[in-house]
Amino acid sequence: MPVCAPSSSSSSNSFGSSSNTKTWIVHGIVAGVAIAAAVGARAYLGGFKKFRSRVVGIIPARFASSRFQGKPLVQILGKPMIQRTWERAKLATTLDHVVVATDDEKIAECCRGFGADVIMTSESCQNGTERCNEALHKLEKKYDVVVNIQGDEPLIEPEIIDGVVKALQAAPDAVFSTAVTSLKPEDAYDPNRVKCVVDNHGYAIYFSRGLIPFNKSGKVNPQYPYLLHLGIQSYDSKFLKIYPELRPTILQLEEDLEQLKVLENGYKMKVIKVDHEAHGVDTPEDVEKIESLMRQRNLS
Ligand SMILES: *[C@@H]1O[C@H](CO)[C@@H](O)[C@H](O)[C@H]1NC(C)=O
Ligand SMILES: *[C@@H]1O[C@H](CO)[C@@H](O)[C@H](O)[C@H]1NC(C)=O
Repeated sequence: MPVCAPSSSSSSNSFGSSSNTKTWIVHGIVAGVAIAAAVGARAYLGGFKKFRSRVVGIIPARFASSRFQGKPLVQILGKPMIQRTWERAKLATTLDHVVVATDDEKIAECCRGFGADVIMTSESCQNGTERCNEALHKLEKKYDVVVNIQGDEPLIEPEIIDGVVKALQAAPDAVFSTAVTSLKPEDAYDPNRVKCVVDNHGYAIYFSRGLIPFNKSGKVNPQYPYLLHLGIQSYDSKFLKIYPELRPTILQLEEDLEQLKVLENGYKMKVIKVDHEAHGVDTPEDVEKIESLMRQRNLS
């Protein structure tokens, strides 16, 4: 018995032809900017001989979740969420390989059913980053870049995946890249919406659950282009191997934000700005929201 309903169509048309897709613009990939001296280069990078050309996309998916049991398998307009994420990832042109990394046999069976490659990872993985790292070790081929594609963003645009990969390839002094979009004013004080500030070259300065920058008036400045952090991230694979082993840092613990560990240890993180409406699925209620949005936009 199939664990999840097989989809009737998994052709690339189901997303590729959507009129929306074309309107997503990836800015901020200013090739050549700030590559220059690779200041602060770490010895382990070994002199940047490689262009980070070999890229794997990993979708970490666990069954157990405090807020939403079995979340990756939830049906969104008749297709499991994990399949939707995988189909979008397959449309990214920079990925040589896309795999699902899971600790759960039901998820694995479902994914193999729609044609995905699956890597089994241990139940003890504390977070998606650790799961990506374990999967990377288990993959037969070697990769220079790993993209961590969160399975709970089923409407992720392939262009955004490609954007973070290209950003990391164009910035040898960074070990990490990620994406931000415009923050909606009503989300300014929501601690679940993580804000980000970047320097003139598009490198992350800081991430916070609080509003940054903070206007002197104490109010949200309607003119200021605040940035919202999106979950997608890519890593230099050598960095990914040491990332989970870096000890927790004080700002990371205070904000409960993993990525601060990267900055606090002095590594550089490249950030691209994209047009994207975040439709993360965290709770069963979010499923209805995303379904009605997809109906409105004629996405199937
Ligand atoms: C704060 O926000 C206001 C608009 O609300 C803006 O005019 C001002 O320049 C901002 N910065 C400071 C320091 O007040
Ligand atoms: C993931 O979990 C491990 C183990 O608890 C922890 O050391 C690490 O800081 C967490 N985050 C990342 C990004 O590795």
